[in-house]
Amino acid sequence: MTTETTQVKIRAIDELDISDVVRIAEKTRGSFQPELWEDRILYYLRRDPEGSLVAEVDGRVAGFMLGDVRCGEFGIEEPSGWIEVIGVDPDCGGRGVGRALAEAMLDIYRARGVRAMRTMVDASMPDIETFFRRLGFEPDSLRPFVKRLAD
Ligand SMILES: CC(C)(COP(=O)(O)OP(=O)(O)OC[C@H]1O[C@@H](n2cnc3c(N)ncnc32)[C@H](O)[C@@H]1OP(=O)(O)O)[C@@H](O)C(=O)NCCC(=O)NCCS
Repeated sequence: MTTETTQVKIRAIDELDISDVVRIAEKTRGSFQPELWEDRILYYLRRDPEGSLVAEVDGRVAGFMLGDVRCGEFGIEEPSGWIEVIGVDPDCGGRGVGRALAEAMLDIYRARGVRAMRTMVDASMPDIETFFRRLGFEPDSLRPFVKRLAD
């Protein structure tokens, strides 16, 4: 990874960022899904207008992070901040954009009294796991379960 230092501006996401999120998600996931991202961003904006973020590099959106604060779910009584989706434009990768997004979200949620940040990482994405470990995340006692539903 390069160690180049980049000026990153973090701000709350808004509706005008949808096309940039679609562009970044197409690069990171390989699929063009404008309706899906419009639905998701509007959902997060309704839940918490200040709780999801974008990063700008040279005035252009270079990454996004969607999350919110939940309490009482999964038997966890303490308010937990959840990082649910992250995407950084690969053209800006390795320059601290993801770290800047995560640290800003931690600061915002900490200021609201949140004392635990959580996320889930699929075992097929070891690079995302490394990213979160570098940010200080560690394995949690919470374990995911799934039951497949037949047609
Ligand atoms: C993972 C991701 C967020 C990293 O973003 P980034 O801006 O390149 O990360 P940063 O430059 O801020 O790196 C932060 C730390 O994570 C580490 N890191 C980042 N990407 C890494 C990778 N692919 N492999 C290993 N470590 C990585 C860096 O070494 C760095 O460590 P340090 O700060 O302690 O030196 C970005 O590559 C991405 O969006 N990937 C696709 C996301 C995705 O598929 N999301 C779907 C599930 S939500």
